[in-house]
Amino acid sequence: MTVSIFSEITGVGHYIPQKTLSNDDLSQLMDTSDAWIRERSGIHERHIADLKEGTSDLGLHAAKEALKAAGMTAEDPDLILAATLSPDYYFPGIGVMIQDKLGARDTPAMDIRGQCSGFSWCLATADAFIRSGQYRTILVIGAEIHSRIIEFSTRGRNVSVLFGDAAGAAVLRRKESPHDIKTALHDPTFSGLIDHEMGSDGSGADLLAVTRPGCSSGHDSLITTHEAENKAFLPVMDGKQVFRHAVNRMSCAVTTLLNRHDVRPEQIDLFIPHQANIRINDMVRQKLALPPEKVFNNIHKYGNTTSATIPLCMYEAEKEGRLKKGNLLVTAAFGSGFTWGANLLRW
Ligand code: ACO
Repeated sequence: MTVSIFSEITGVGHYIPQKTLSNDDLSQLMDTSDAWIRERSGIHERHIADLKEGTSDLGLHAAKEALKAAGMTAEDPDLILAATLSPDYYFPGIGVMIQDKLGARDTPAMDIRGQCSGFSWCLATADAFIRSGQYRTILVIGAEIHSRIIEFSTRGRNVSVLFGDAAGAAVLRRKESPHDIKTALHDPTFSGLIDHEMGSDGSGADLLAVTRPGCSSGHDSLITTHEAENKAFLPVMDGKQVFRHAVNRMSCAVTTLLNRHDVRPEQIDLFIPHQANIRINDMVRQKLALPPEKVFNNIHKYGNTTSATIPLCMYEAEKEGRLKKGNLLVTAAFGSGFTWGANLLRW
C-alpha cells in the first residue's frame, strides 16, 4: 500500500496580556471616539503587554501551551518557525529567543517575515518541510507587541487604534496516510493540511511600513538623533489603499486555493480571516459567498494582532466548538509588503 506524508496540527496555544485598553481609554489619550473605532474597524478593546514582557515572552507562553496541548516537551520540535513584525531586537529574531527560553537546545529556529501573513506562511513552510521528509515535528509561533511601536496620540491615531498585543502557536506533526490529497480533502475523518496559496506585491511596501531604522539608500546610519526625536520609527499606513488591496488579495487567494481543488465555498465548514478590520472581513465573506455563521472573527476583543490573529482564532474557535475535528477550514491573511496567504486544511 502506498502512503503519503501529511502534516497535522496536534496542539494550539495562545497568550493574551492581562491589561486591556478600551476605545474609551484611547479617547482619553487622543482625539478619537468609541463610535469612530467601532464603526470603522469593529474593534471594542485590545490587550497591552506588561513592560516586564517582550515579544518573545508572549510567544513563549503560546508555544508552551501548544506543546502541552500536543502532549510534547520543548525537546520534541525539530524546527521552530516564528513570525513577528515587532521583534525584541532588530536582530536576531524572536525564534532563537523562544528556543532559548523554552530550553530547546540547538533546535533550528527561523524567523519568517511575512507581517500579517507571517503565520499563514509559517504553516505553508512547516507543511513543506514535513512533506519533504526533512522534519517530523515543527513548532510555529506568531507573536506581537504593537503597543510599543505605535503612538497613542492624535498624530498616531489612524494606526494606533487598530492594533493589539498577543501571541498564538501551533504544533505540526508528520503523519502517514493511505490518502492522497484528493481523497484526504473529501474524507471528514481525515485531519491534516491540504494546500496553501502565498503571494506578494512589493510595489505596496511603502503603503504600510516602518521605514526607519533601516539601511535604505540615502541614509548613512540606521537612525539619526533627529529622526529618533521625531519618531521616524512609527508605522506609516495608507488605510484606504491597504483596505482595498486586503479585500481583493484575501478573496482571490481563497478562490485560487479552492478552485485548485474543485472545492465549492459551501463545502467549507469554517473560514478564519486575518483580523485587521471587520469591514474587510465582511467584504471578503461576501465575495466568497459565505454565510456569516461560517466566518470566525474576534477582532472586537483584541484588535489587529498581526501574526497572532490566525492561531488566536483557531484556539478560540476550537474552544467555542465552532471548529471541530475533521472540519474543512480555510484561512486567509493579508499584510504589509504587500503579502498574502491562504491555507486549506482538515482540522
Ligand atoms: N479617530 C478619529 N478620526 C480618525 C482616526 C481615529 N482613530 N483615524 C483617522 N481619523 C480621521 C482622519 O484624520 C480622516 O480625517 P479627515 O477626513 O478630516 O482627513 C478621517 O478620519 C478618515 O476617515 P475615513 O477616510 O472615512 O476612514 P476610513 O473609513 O478609510 O477608515 C481605516 C480608516 C479604519 C484606517 C481603514 O481605512 C482601514 O481599516 N484600512 C485598513 C487598515 C488595515 O487593515 N491595516 C492593517 C492591515 S495589514 C496588517 O495587519 C499589518
